[in-house]
Amino acid sequence: MEMLLKQKKTLESICARADHPRNDPYGSHVMPIYQTSTFTFKNAEEGRRFFAHEDSSATHSYSRLGNPTVELAEQIIADMEGLDISEKTEGMLFGSGMAAITTGIMALAPGKKILAQETLYGCTSQFLQENAPRFNIEVMNINPNDLDAVENALKNHDDISLVYLESIANPTMRVCDIEQITKLAHKSGAFVMVDNTFATPWHMRPLNRGADLVAHSTTKYLNGHGTLIGGALVARKGFFDHCDLKTYRKNFGGIAGPFEAWLTLMGLKTFALRMKQHNINGKKVAEFLYNHPKISQIWYTGSANHPDSEIIKTQMINGYGGMISFELHGGLEAGIKVMNRVKFASLAVSLGTVDTLIQHPASMTHAIVKPEIRESAGITDGLIRLSVGIESAEDIIADLNQALQ
Ligand SMILES: Cc1ncc(COP(=O)(O)O)c(C=O)c1O
Repeated sequence: MEMLLKQKKTLESICARADHPRNDPYGSHVMPIYQTSTFTFKNAEEGRRFFAHEDSSATHSYSRLGNPTVELAEQIIADMEGLDISEKTEGMLFGSGMAAITTGIMALAPGKKILAQETLYGCTSQFLQENAPRFNIEVMNINPNDLDAVENALKNHDDISLVYLESIANPTMRVCDIEQITKLAHKSGAFVMVDNTFATPWHMRPLNRGADLVAHSTTKYLNGHGTLIGGALVARKGFFDHCDLKTYRKNFGGIAGPFEAWLTLMGLKTFALRMKQHNINGKKVAEFLYNHPKISQIWYTGSANHPDSEIIKTQMINGYGGMISFELHGGLEAGIKVMNRVKFASLAVSLGTVDTLIQHPASMTHAIVKPEIRESAGITDGLIRLSVGIESAEDIIADLNQALQ
């Protein structure tokens, strides 16, 4: 036992036992769903002490502030992101990835400037461009792979309070140097927040590169089964208090419900196993796509000629995942044809589920966006986004092969 305790924790073990309650009064093996909106106090004094933050036998009051099932999922995701840093980490669960992201941004950059990666998930981008300015938050876009530009922006704008990044950019799969950017940001007194949804802690852990706050859409790989919408924030212990993040979540009201938290725990049990298979399948599918005559370009973090392969070598661990974008020679028409021909992959937005999902942004998610704006964000007419699942790679490839004929 002593040997075991001294051993370094692994994601495999954290995740397989994710649903084990820590102090369940009935000794439940699997965490129960505390499906309750409120919690009772034994007497007025217990309630008074709880709300006065004095030592109280009561631990919970109302599920918008905290709930045992939600708290277990929060701690597991925090343990995963904090696996290789010496400090303790803490997490917060949200009703969606966007609730996590917007709550984090509002807490970290009130009335200030944000330096944001130019290519971001569509709703994050829309929030920064359209909603944030109404709260006096000014947003400057930057290519984070241009470190000189990042440094200059920070030097020339000392009111930048937050640098916002995605660990793997969507859909270009670009990877920036989180450690270098964080050093520059911290020198200027700015925080760094990283959306780690595509990479997950299996492939990247932004906290160990110095980042301050990590965001997730738990809807994706962390749940893995496509059964919920959820989000999370993770930071070193003390950071949430420092930025008053718990108050922001309490009052914006974006906490996850207990059932979604429980589904997250159920999904996390097989996280390591799933990620290993996403890796194997992603590599096989990418190899098939490289040689296909109908495809002009492929974006995959495992490509030997990926523009950021040097950073990927040092920053990415445990393989390259299952996210692949590729460009068809025939543009919009070719993209629509492929969508209508796939039989095995599910024609659906989202990503990170055990089954393969495929989508064509120009005719689906981004069809209402003007073509020139789409192009400038790297969303070309022939771009297909593939979330490679854990089925047999041969079945995925056979389907793509017939759809591309
Ligand atoms: C990278 C990334 N971040 C955030 C989100 C938003 O997550 P949710 O849909 O759970 O709000 C998504 C959704 O697709 C995403 O792909």
